[in-house]
Amino acid sequence: MEISYLRVSVTDKCNLKCFYCRPDNSEFVPHDEILRYEEITKIVRAMTKYGLRKVRITGGEPLVRPNLDELIKMIKEIPQIHDISLTTNAITLAKHAESLRKAGLDRLNISIDSLKPDLFYQITKGRLEDVLEGIRVSKELGYNPIKVNAVIVKGLNEDEALDFVEFGKEYGVEVRFIEMMPIGAEQIHWSNDLVKPLEEIKKKIEEKYGKLIPAISIGSGAARVYKIPKLGTKVGFITPMSNPFCDGCSKLRLTAEGHIKLCLRTDDEIDIKTVVRNGTDEDLDRFIQKVLIEKEISNAKIQKSGYAFSDCRRIMTSIGG
Ligand code: 5AD
Repeated sequence: MEISYLRVSVTDKCNLKCFYCRPDNSEFVPHDEILRYEEITKIVRAMTKYGLRKVRITGGEPLVRPNLDELIKMIKEIPQIHDISLTTNAITLAKHAESLRKAGLDRLNISIDSLKPDLFYQITKGRLEDVLEGIRVSKELGYNPIKVNAVIVKGLNEDEALDFVEFGKEYGVEVRFIEMMPIGAEQIHWSNDLVKPLEEIKKKIEEKYGKLIPAISIGSGAARVYKIPKLGTKVGFITPMSNPFCDGCSKLRLTAEGHIKLCLRTDDEIDIKTVVRNGTDEDLDRFIQKVLIEKEISNAKIQKSGYAFSDCRRIMTSIGG
């Protein structure tokens, strides 16, 4: 098995408080326990031997960590890595977008769950206008594509689907709708009643704009992406609940405290910090081979369980999107 894609969480801190991601009582990992940029870079470099070409930086909120552009530069210097993207809530993006671009950041995924300022505040405790400013600045700097992620929650924002499509056209961004997953389910009071099957959203879009045409998008990963011919824009659907996309998954996550998380659906993790801090390059290489075997075992286990979500107790902010 090869590693195609690594998501790197650089912090578990966040400047927002989305109800499904960071319940109020969540604790932060102490600073010393967080991987240093040199350690992250060492892991990324070691993984290129096993196929790694794409890296996504996540959090918490990654822009909360100081000097993120330093990390981007360090990863950019690894010749095999040809795609670096960032998942952000964009609250402070307007301020950081230029230095990150100069450092070599290629793409942006921005989370927006409502286009109504009041509801946006209710969900996140943040200001929508800050996010929109971040998008405008980033467009001008040439980030392409910019994707907007909207977690659709039944009874909350499902009525905004068509508004998101119009927004995509207006801002020149690709919109991705996401089904809400039971990540840290107990703490976030997740219930199946909150899941809106996205097939219904797709139908609604087709009723208004005509048939969607399957399309590809750079780094589309888990999303099924379509073009809306009438508008010339793209939309994507990420359906972990109604239509899982686990087969052949080779995506890995690196948590801020230096654990490899094999899959969002389980709590299976492997501590890679100890070996990257204390071991030799050979130790790290051997360790990554072990991680790949564990990933295959994890995939088989999840397939056998029928993709039933069972035991992911970690909350999203401590995993990294
Ligand atoms: N289900 C689906 N998506 C989630 N995100 C955070 N928590 C969940 C969840 N329980 C999304 C964020 C962001 C991305 C990193 O993950 O909204 O867009």
